[in-house]
Amino acid sequence: MLELRSLTKCYSSVPAIDNISFQVKPGEVLGCLGPNGSGKSTTVKIITGLLEPTRGEVLFRGKNIREDLAAHKRVIGYVPEEANLYPFLSGLEYLELTGRLRGLPGRVLSRRANTLLELFSMHPHRHTVISAYSKGMRQRILLIAALLHNPDLIIFDEPLSGLDVTSAMIFQKLVSELSREGKTIFYCSHVLEIVEKVCSHVAILRKGKQLAYGTVAELKQFQAMPSLEAAFAHLVQEVDAEQAARSIVDTVNA
Ligand SMILES: Nc1ncnc2c1ncn2[C@@H]1O[C@H](COP(=O)(O)OP(=O)(O)OP(=O)(O)O)[C@@H](O)[C@H]1O
Ligand SMILES: [Mg+2]
Repeated sequence: MLELRSLTKCYSSVPAIDNISFQVKPGEVLGCLGPNGSGKSTTVKIITGLLEPTRGEVLFRGKNIREDLAAHKRVIGYVPEEANLYPFLSGLEYLELTGRLRGLPGRVLSRRANTLLELFSMHPHRHTVISAYSKGMRQRILLIAALLHNPDLIIFDEPLSGLDVTSAMIFQKLVSELSREGKTIFYCSHVLEIVEKVCSHVAILRKGKQLAYGTVAELKQFQAMPSLEAAFAHLVQEVDAEQAARSIVDTVNA
């Protein structure tokens, strides 16, 4: 189980996240929602061990992750919001590098990398350098790299970014399969429709604070709203979208 206990992260004494607490059990998919700048990626970076919290702690299977960060990194699969791929490596070389860093034996690594490349329709492009990949192709390599070592804790930060319709559909089914396998999944997204479909639980952040946390059904019921989108809008929407759009068009017309 993944447990966040009163997590706070400050930048120059300004909190990016403030007292965030929740749990994700094996087989659960927690959707983390919130407007831009609300603290989703900051939370993700703390869970992956990339950032140290100012206060609070993250436990995985009952142990503070910072006690052995190397061991923690071996059990997590992470798809970051921004791809930091080596542009001069081919897709296959990148996967081989990632797999070796995670200690996968050569034969297992080669088999898994090639099969996953095929499943994500990347096999024909495996020897092409990453700098020549399209955005969606890079994203698919990131997804494969995150799953290659069969991690128990999977963290997705905007995983659908740039994916085409077919890849997005496969991804959606994949999340459900992974949760059935008993993986613990943390999923940040702005795509509420998919969050509603794939997530068992939802945490909503706004300006670094946790506004709501519960199952999708609880959230809808509590807000007396028909959909997650409506419940979300009710909780966090600060602007009249129609009015804002009109003002933008008026401004560029003036
Ligand atoms: N390295 C940094 N230095 C200073 N402030 C930062 C840093 N990284 C993030 N922040 C601030 O922390 C807050 C939360 O940022 P974060 O990236 O976690 O938001 P987010 O919810 O992931 O947003 P988005 O939906 O745009 O990805 C923002 O106010 C941001 O400006
Ligand atoms: Mg983010």
